[in-house]
Amino acid sequence: MRSIPVSAADPAPLLAVEGLKVHFHTRDGVVRAVDGVDFQVAAGQTLGIVGESGSGKTVSSLTLLRLAPPPAKIVAGRVMFEGEDLLTQSDKRLAEIRGRRMAMIFQNPATSLNPVLSIGSQLTEILRWHTGASAKAARERAAELLALVGISDPVARLRQYPHELSGGMKQRVGIARALLCEPSLLLADEPTTALDVTIQAQILDLLADLRQRLGMAMVLVTHDMGVVARMADRITVMYAGRVCETADAVTIFNAPQHPYTRALLESVPRVDHSYSGARRVLPSIAGRPPDLLHAPPGCRFHDRCPEATAECRQVMPREHVVAAGHTVSCLRRGSPGESAP
Ligand SMILES: Nc1ncnc2c1ncn2[C@@H]1O[C@H](COP(=O)(O)OP(=O)(O)O)[C@@H](O)[C@H]1O
Ligand code: SF4
Ligand SMILES: [Mg+2]
Repeated sequence: MRSIPVSAADPAPLLAVEGLKVHFHTRDGVVRAVDGVDFQVAAGQTLGIVGESGSGKTVSSLTLLRLAPPPAKIVAGRVMFEGEDLLTQSDKRLAEIRGRRMAMIFQNPATSLNPVLSIGSQLTEILRWHTGASAKAARERAAELLALVGISDPVARLRQYPHELSGGMKQRVGIARALLCEPSLLLADEPTTALDVTIQAQILDLLADLRQRLGMAMVLVTHDMGVVARMADRITVMYAGRVCETADAVTIFNAPQHPYTRALLESVPRVDHSYSGARRVLPSIAGRPPDLLHAPPGCRFHDRCPEATAECRQVMPREHVVAAGHTVSCLRRGSPGESAP
């Protein structure tokens, strides 16, 4: 774990997500996928967002760039990034920011690259669109980026097509593409989940190295506690569309307060929390997350929580500061309640 002290009360975070609600209006009703989420990322910092499958991590991160697919509807909230609320900007302005100031790498490199365009075309088009670089300058820059992400013989690679590359290589190209314009924030949604275990470790090494060298901030979405332990400065734990707890990584691992965070950690080997190359998928906690089409009243974790009281079934806990830079949403940790939506 890195030990950069970062205050949650940073006066001007690079990214501040406030009260974000993203609902899916389906034929069966409203799915409250993201239902009042707050988090912040300071310049140069890595925030790990962790939680079981279906907790709203992907929908939250896609919404930062307004990429959540229909029928997703942004119902409330702000996404303040470099002083602008991305949720109220024009489509034109957002297209300028996407890929240039905030870029994304996806879980599956096989589907995130365009199969009919050469690697060179995919990279240079982005550069030329964002920066107006000449074809020659764009090719040079693209080759430079491929070298940066550890791809040998980059000039020859520019002529290749995605199907000619292995999964690990494709993900390196995806990372190069995201870094072309030197974004200040990189979003990485499960960037290693689709890869072999040995390749996962290499890609994480690469991301850690690039983050250090380029000084960029990162939002790293994962269900793997080993990955956040190794990469994140701060960690936000999500459950059923809500944030349970946010703190620096050392506090999350050594002094977690929320019963869900504790349950997650109890089943992770406590030798040390550095990434060993082995996958440590979130353990199964008895029970299942609630169906967000019929989100339960009160605390969304109450069915599985060993500490639940009658109040927990009625009152939804609101985020509450328990120490500097450490927030928890739990009625039994002092959180005030909010009336159910
Ligand atoms: N297209 C969709 N239509 C309806 N509900 C969706 C859709 N996509 C996602 N959801 C709902 O949003 C919730 C959060 O999904 P997601 O953000 O992908 O979770 P995570 O990334 O944490 O696994 C899920 O519980 C799912 O039910
Ligand atoms: S509010 Fe109640 S149910 Fe929810 S985590 Fe806290 S103790 Fe458990
Ligand atoms: Mg996901």
